[in-house]
Amino acid sequence: MSGDAGPAGATTTDPVAAVPTPGDPAARAASLADLPLRDVLRGVEPYGAPQLDVPVLLNVNENPVPPSEVVAREMGEAVAAAARGLNRYPDREFLDLRADLADFLALESGVRLPAAQLWAANGSNEVMLQVLQAFGGEGRTAVSFAPTYSMYPEYARDTGTRWVVGRRRDDFTVDPAAAVALVEREQPSVVLLASPNNPTGTALPREVVEAVCDVAPGVVVVDEAYAEFRREGVPSALELLERYPRLAVSRTMSKAFSLAGARVGYLASSRAVVDALRVVRLPYHLSGVTQAVARVALRHSAELLRGVDALRAERDALVAWLRGLDLEVADSDANFVLFGRLADRHAAWRGLLDRGVLVRETGPEGWLRVSVGTPEETAAFRSALVEVLATPAGARAAGPDAPEGTR
Ligand SMILES: Cc1ncc(COP(=O)(O)O)c(C=O)c1O
Repeated sequence: MSGDAGPAGATTTDPVAAVPTPGDPAARAASLADLPLRDVLRGVEPYGAPQLDVPVLLNVNENPVPPSEVVAREMGEAVAAAARGLNRYPDREFLDLRADLADFLALESGVRLPAAQLWAANGSNEVMLQVLQAFGGEGRTAVSFAPTYSMYPEYARDTGTRWVVGRRRDDFTVDPAAAVALVEREQPSVVLLASPNNPTGTALPREVVEAVCDVAPGVVVVDEAYAEFRREGVPSALELLERYPRLAVSRTMSKAFSLAGARVGYLASSRAVVDALRVVRLPYHLSGVTQAVARVALRHSAELLRGVDALRAERDALVAWLRGLDLEVADSDANFVLFGRLADRHAAWRGLLDRGVLVRETGPEGWLRVSVGTPEETAAFRSALVEVLATPAGARAAGPDAPEGTR
């Protein structure tokens, strides 16, 4: 049997043995400290929740229900068809997919847009990074309101954009007067508003988005990654697109469509904003396989939205149940719930993990975030939490605390 030569020249199949020992020239060349890394990246860990092998995973706001057998089979057929053309680059403009996305938004929120006002990329993270690539950069500012999605400052960092963060109120809503004051003072070229917000689940009323759009000198992105989970009567910023040509609504197929693994996010805005993103996107950024899979999922939108209804009901029941335990629970329009306040949230997180349930230790100190799972997963979470709350690890925090940032 053949294998790699390890540092001592021994023949081995163990890849770890091939890693150079500290002190030899190969190790020095591979050390981060010797690389011309940008100063802002020194000492920074890659973003991401711990990937642990645990029976009940409720930590990254995925949809717990996989695509149905029918959908999976059709995706397989579509991928096979796409595979036969993979010697060619994919459609760079993917207008078919953009038209399907426009149809979905018309079905979901009643707002009808032409395909040219839609854009897509590998996850809404990539879409929003493209927004910062197009409108941020040296000498420019991006603004948001914390606690909010931890990736926003990373888009700013990676594009050399100055990052300014205002505070949400203690109930995680955004004070329109304070938001307007911050935007007027900072004159940002990009404002990022998550609605429903991660990690709090809070949706923004229309008046807050309008107030910000009325004074913002640049692009306002409303990140609606969880919009399909919003409660009855909660509006989508899509309804404001006609009035504000510099407003952009970012959405994703990762959550409602059970498609986190396919990496498809999209954005609806004016044609001009979409044209700006077309300038900064890498050539052929959305693979033919991705486009094919997304189009199959979109053909099944109505069925997927029924699944979302079930998760919304599960979410509302979970909020009510947690409140019944005398915990503080943020109102949620998303597929997750933020609850607290615990004296030692890390101990509570650990207690849940020891019982096979992984939730997310994020948001203000004292709070934990749990994604809505299948009824079985939620039941496992409930029994684990009841047990943890009965131990010292589940002690409640004393006295009111102002929420802190998510990082
Ligand atoms: C608020 C918010 N926006 C955007 C995303 C990114 O999602 P994706 O890149 O999978 O579309 C997430 C992911 O969890 C999120 O919570």
